[in-house]
Amino acid sequence: MPDTLSRTVPGPSPSPSTERPLPTAICSIAGLGHYLPERVLTNDELALTVDTSDEWIMERTGIRGRHCAAPEEATSDMAHRASLEALADAGVHPAELDLILLATSTPDTPVPSTACYLQTRLGCKRVPAMDIAAGCAGYGFALHMAAGAVKSGMHNTVLVVGADTLTRITNYADRQSCILFGDGAGAAVVRPGGRFDVLYSNIGSDGDGASMIRVRAGGSRTPASAESVASAGHTLEIHGREVFKAAVLQMTDCIRKAAAAVGVRPEDFDLIIPHQANARIIEAVGRQLDITDKRVVIDMIETGNTAAASIPVALGRARRRGLLHPGQLVATVGFGAGLAWACQILHIRN
Ligand code: COA
Repeated sequence: MPDTLSRTVPGPSPSPSTERPLPTAICSIAGLGHYLPERVLTNDELALTVDTSDEWIMERTGIRGRHCAAPEEATSDMAHRASLEALADAGVHPAELDLILLATSTPDTPVPSTACYLQTRLGCKRVPAMDIAAGCAGYGFALHMAAGAVKSGMHNTVLVVGADTLTRITNYADRQSCILFGDGAGAAVVRPGGRFDVLYSNIGSDGDGASMIRVRAGGSRTPASAESVASAGHTLEIHGREVFKAAVLQMTDCIRKAAAAVGVRPEDFDLIIPHQANARIIEAVGRQLDITDKRVVIDMIETGNTAAASIPVALGRARRRGLLHPGQLVATVGFGAGLAWACQILHIRN
């Protein structure tokens, strides 16, 4: 597995927008922000307590380190940091928000919603705030709902956040899964007339795959008990190989459908930003689409899988690395527990 960060960066390319008419924007993203906790847990450190190695993890996943929240840091704290950055980027004051949608599978507490903790931290009292649970596709689900809310005219300025503290529900006795996960948050301010037009948005779920990625206990089916704690029932269980295959099939299908819906081919996308779960999953998606170059973004070497934060973090990091240019078409596609998936197409304004 090559060092994914050292891959060369694609420059501006002629966008299909200059050649073909694109659909009218549903809404747009006016600002982006993300936050990764300071502490990094490296593969070498993990290998001190887990039966694994840096070599195996790099080869099988493309991950070398993952950021881990500090003991006193919870999901809403990271969401707050990402939100402040997104609001500043958009030039929007928290008082201008009229809806907060926070996607997470690791809320601060089961009740109330983490979005309510975020709302009070931002100081925007009375703004409706709620959580969305769609696993690693959560940010895409929240963006989809925000797009509908703005397009309908019922809301004007929506804060969309994907934030997860997966290291809190990771089973470090399970070497297959514990190497994958990191913590982080990403945010977007959605309103009419921003920098990234949202041209297309689609979401989907398949509950038949519910047992493929799950936390068994702690809900109404199996309430918390000494036994549920002792049997690691509050940690994330994955069926890695099955998830791998399902992720490749579904994300490929999403990109094909999204391209057809806006009248382009998958190879016309300047960038495709898939959920950052495993570099081999992303490479397989690229091969299925016949796009084997850097347009299919792999950026998990330092972050691991940050669940609902994965796409806004990768998008924000792509911008910092100079990958985003006016006129580009960017596809994002998420996939995770549910099963659930979400796909959006962004057009960067000139
Ligand atoms: N270190 C060393 N060896 C490991 C290991 C680790 N951390 N984890 C598993 N192995 C071993 C296995 O025991 C197995 O050994 P065996 O052949 O002797 O039985 C071998 O490596 C291959 O295991 P396998 O599970 O087939 O590996 P894989 O190539 O499928 O990679 C995942 C495992 C989990 C990295 C990969 O399947 C994956 O990324 N899946 C999707 C992840 C996911 O569910 N994400 C959450 C939702 S998006």
